Amino acid sequence: MLRLDVLTLFPEIFAPLFASIPARAQQAGLVAVHLHNLRQWGVGRHRQVDDTPYGGGPGMVLLAEPLFRATEAITALAPERPRVLLMSPQGPRLDQAAVFRLARESRLLLVCGHYEGLDERYREALVDEEVSIGDYVLSGGELAAMVLSDALIRVQPGAIDAESVRQDSFAEGLLDHPHYSRPATFRGMAVPPVLLSGNHAAIEKWRREQALVRTAERRPDLLSGS
Ligand SMILES: C[S@@+](CC[C@H](N)C(=O)[O-])C[C@H]1O[C@@H](n2cnc3c(N)ncnc32)[C@H](O)[C@@H]1O
Repeated sequence: MLRLDVLTLFPEIFAPLFASIPARAQQAGLVAVHLHNLRQWGVGRHRQVDDTPYGGGPGMVLLAEPLFRATEAITALAPERPRVLLMSPQGPRLDQAAVFRLARESRLLLVCGHYEGLDERYREALVDEEVSIGDYVLSGGELAAMVLSDALIRVQPGAIDAESVRQDSFAEGLLDHPHYSRPATFRGMAVPPVLLSGNHAAIEKWRREQALVRTAERRPDLLSGS
């Protein structure tokens, strides 16, 4: 069972984690998602969570105090200390190997930045790892946390067919093979005959070849191991 705690200023935008496969995985008790609003630990009467940066410049910075207090309070909600992951364009780019590694943890705290960023002292003191979902800048860490959560949830044993996870792109270093369904001919386009042959060994061989061809064409870097 994986426990995901998410610290965010916008818990209301996390609907994708409560639909489809993530919802079913939670109903089956494979994962538990807990959303926490940083505002709850805001400072003073106005529950302030951000302020202008020392040294000047544009944007607002999330304050150290609410971040520290929230992390301490969320940590205390369960016996096990979570691994704290900060969503950040400055972290290593997320890939399937990292997803499989993180999916084996039993408790993760996903921290969503916003505005210009967070007080650096929080990162230094409490963050175990930074995670980027790509070389572009989002308005906040929420979409990144949803991407990471979805990827973690679908590989939890029992969330979807294990064979499907094994065949997916990147799971074994290759892109997935093409897929077809009924009808056998659609607008003059026929399904490759081998898939209708009933010969499982031949189908397996064709799929493997297609996966290799696709990977060589689209992502040769995966084959060279670079
Ligand atoms: C506008 S961004 C801050 C960008 C920061 N000033 C920088 O240039 O590194 C606000 C927040 O969005 C999240 N974020 C933005 N891009 C991201 C990415 N590619 N991957 C993960 N999180 C991202 C982070 O939590 C970040 O603190």
